Amino acid sequence: MSKNWLYIANWKSYLTYQQELTFFEQNLTELRQLALELKIQNKQLIICPSFITLAQIAKILDSKSISNIKLGAQNCSNKELGAYTGEISAKSLRELNCDYCLVGHFERRKLYYETDPELAAKIKLLIQAEITPIICISEIAQLTNILDNLHLDRLHTPMVIAYEPTWAIGTGKTPTNQEIYLFCQEIEELIKIKYNNISLNYLIVYGGSVTEINIAELRQITKLNGVLIGKASIDFQELKKIVLS
Ligand code: PGA
Repeated sequence: MSKNWLYIANWKSYLTYQQELTFFEQNLTELRQLALELKIQNKQLIICPSFITLAQIAKILDSKSISNIKLGAQNCSNKELGAYTGEISAKSLRELNCDYCLVGHFERRKLYYETDPELAAKIKLLIQAEITPIICISEIAQLTNILDNLHLDRLHTPMVIAYEPTWAIGTGKTPTNQEIYLFCQEIEELIKIKYNNISLNYLIVYGGSVTEINIAELRQITKLNGVLIGKASIDFQELKKIVLS
């Protein structure tokens, strides 16, 4: 059996609430078939729509017994429940059946000035809520800072680390396989040193201009366990080609 691969669809704010629901309603039959096929191929599709659609999509997936397509959020609060206007807690995401949550996407860092200590606080709350964080980084120093702020003595809960070079996001440009491989190696070395080689429970994915054209090449990278797909994931036929490749 091929190794487990994650396909993380980050819909950002490309679609309206209604358009996100239409994506599911229009492609329901194909989505069910796709979910079965993914199971056979040992792959997992994680869809990260906007917050407001999560509950509806969770219901659709549940009512059609599509358990192999998972839900992810694009962000969460760095605070517990409380007087934090406009925030969405990790606890609420758990109640909505979110199994994953993006943390520190480049756009959150750049446009909303999120810092590594804030991101570490989000990760702690996600872990408490039993949601797997998908930690987005473009430089190894960001991961070092996040792990330093997490104060975990070992990586006992699953985590996904997404390498997304800023210059590759939404530009149509991608690094070479060798460059991605070397970055994966840096991540591995950092984690090995930091956690003394014990209880390592993480996967590395790549993100930035992933398409149906470059996916086959990216699948060759032995240290990778998946991809994070932005723009190409809002077109169902393109997404299907990517995940089945
Ligand atoms: P892109 O976005 O695939 O549109 O480049 C990737 C991302 O931002 O996660």
